[in-house]
Amino acid sequence: MVSARRELPEQLRFLESRKAQQKSSTESMAGTVCVVTGSTSGVGLEATRRLAAGGALVVMVCRDRAKAETIRARIAAAGGISPELVVADFFDLSQVRAAADEIRARHRRIDVLINSAGLHATRKHLTKDGFEQVFCVNHLASFLFTSMLVERLKESAPARIIMVNSEGHRFGGLDLDDLDWSRRHYTGLRGYGASKTAQLLAVWEFADRLRGTGVTINAMHPGDVRTGIGRNNGILYRLFLHTVIWPFLKDPAISGDALYWLASSPDVAGVSGKFFHLTIEEKPAQHALDRAIGARVWDVSRRLVGLDGGPDPYP
Ligand SMILES: NC(=O)c1ccc[n+]([C@@H]2O[C@H](COP(=O)([O-])OP(=O)(O)OC[C@H]3O[C@@H](n4cnc5c(N)ncnc54)[C@H](OP(=O)(O)O)[C@@H]3O)[C@@H](O)[C@H]2O)c1
Repeated sequence: MVSARRELPEQLRFLESRKAQQKSSTESMAGTVCVVTGSTSGVGLEATRRLAAGGALVVMVCRDRAKAETIRARIAAAGGISPELVVADFFDLSQVRAAADEIRARHRRIDVLINSAGLHATRKHLTKDGFEQVFCVNHLASFLFTSMLVERLKESAPARIIMVNSEGHRFGGLDLDDLDWSRRHYTGLRGYGASKTAQLLAVWEFADRLRGTGVTINAMHPGDVRTGIGRNNGILYRLFLHTVIWPFLKDPAISGDALYWLASSPDVAGVSGKFFHLTIEEKPAQHALDRAIGARVWDVSRRLVGLDGGPDPYP
């Protein structure tokens, strides 16, 4: 008698992706220019190392020049192409703009853009412009940075954009009428979920607008890996993270390998508007597939980052 294998409901399949065999790529990235945000720690650092080892010139976007210089020296010593540095603090959108301008001025082509800068905060903090910090870095900054580099990516087509997102989008929390949480109680999980939900909804919008241009955009969960995320929070949180959570987390090298596959593999050439758990395609939570809210996310984000009224890159 054949025993029927019990399948998880679609929305819980991500639990299986954790155990799935991941894909990898040995394609050369020689001659390419890859821009990576959040390149000084964790997922972005692993992507930077992997891309440099694969022959790419990596433009490391970072807020801490000294930290990035040390990484750059290590990569060069290991035989990779020495990365370039661009400094910007993503709590300040004017610095995001300046970083994008600097990269556009320096590079005639961009082959890959990986947006990995991100954080998780247990308490609400506002930026000097009044944005909730997690929403600002995880969503608004990646949205603005991508919007400002998209023309260069189109000119360089085929080109790929990868948003480092999270299974944490499943926590929900997005309320476009209360983005600064002045009407609701802020919790770390919901604040994080809101930012990642907005980013995912923006990915579908970008993907639609980029159809036919040769530029793809996908989102990915980088695995559950040991990184610096959460180190901005209090001592009790960090203690909990390191003693209780860390033993269950994996080596962040898997995130670098997955990002390298997404950036280089012919298997994903032309694939756009998808969500991957590392390298396994997955269905996001239902609330992150609501295109009516996505259309509002697009408009609200363009207004908040100061792009409405300016030239729309998508006629
Ligand atoms: N770790 C996981 O298991 C996991 C799971 C799901 C999703 N993610 C996502 O993966 C991405 C990377 O996180 P991670 O785990 O690698 O954490 P991480 O080790 O803390 O790295 C975060 C990176 O973002 C940069 N960053 C943070 N705030 C910034 C700001 N205001 N301006 C400019 N850069 C800023 C950090 O710069 P500094 O080095 O200067 O601090 C660092 O390079 C995030 O988007 C996160 O949501 C991670």
